Amino acid sequence: MPRKDQRPKGKKVSDSQTIMTEMIMPNDTNPLNNLMGGNLMRWMDVAAGICAGKHCESYVVTASVDSVSFQQPIRMGDVITIKSTVTRAFNTSIEVYVEVFAADMKGGNPRRCNDAFLTFVAIDDKSNKPKKVPPVIALTKEEQQLYDGALKRREFRLVLSGRLKPEEAGEIRSLFHPTN
Ligand SMILES: CC(C)(COP(=O)(O)OP(=O)(O)OC[C@H]1O[C@@H](n2cnc3c(N)ncnc32)[C@H](O)[C@@H]1OP(=O)(O)O)[C@@H](O)C(=O)NCCC(=O)NCCS
Repeated sequence: MPRKDQRPKGKKVSDSQTIMTEMIMPNDTNPLNNLMGGNLMRWMDVAAGICAGKHCESYVVTASVDSVSFQQPIRMGDVITIKSTVTRAFNTSIEVYVEVFAADMKGGNPRRCNDAFLTFVAIDDKSNKPKKVPPVIALTKEEQQLYDGALKRREFRLVLSGRLKPEEAGEIRSLFHPTN
């Protein structure tokens, strides 16, 4: 049995990739018959949480959601597909990349609507405290690119949330202190 402080074994990105599909119903829309942004954000959180939980084999909580912008309206009756992929694990947290695609019910007008990075923290059932997460094994070129960018994104969000001093952010320090 692994020791409690020991890092679990690495897992492939494909082991936890999650696809969620929803049809946009009248209850999901705003007065313009478009999907309400808040409903989409909720589904993105659910889809990403399932993916993170599967990777970590654990309960997870959402620690942060990076900026979400809505590039294309999604209409009532459209079908959306939410694809969630783990990018990189840190100590007790993991970053998940979520992409949203929409099409009409017959598959027409397919389009990519938005994307976002969410961070989850794995929680130990017994102590209710953060626990170590398995490393992510990135195999494809795209998975490797997402993996490589994750350290900088993590530093950005920790600096913006006040958890990391800009001068301690090894990857992005020069953006804040150009002369150092
Ligand atoms: C997220 C939470 C567990 C962090 O707890 P904490 O006591 O601050 O724990 P730690 O300082 O040990 O941080 C744990 C991890 O969270 C990460 N984290 C905390 N805040 C973060 C943020 N704003 N953005 C990204 N990561 C964050 C830390 O970097 C750390 O990751 P690491 O171990 O991989 O380096 C705690 O703040 C919490 O429970 N928040 C509420 C979560 C919630 O209810 N979400 C919505 C419903 S699911």
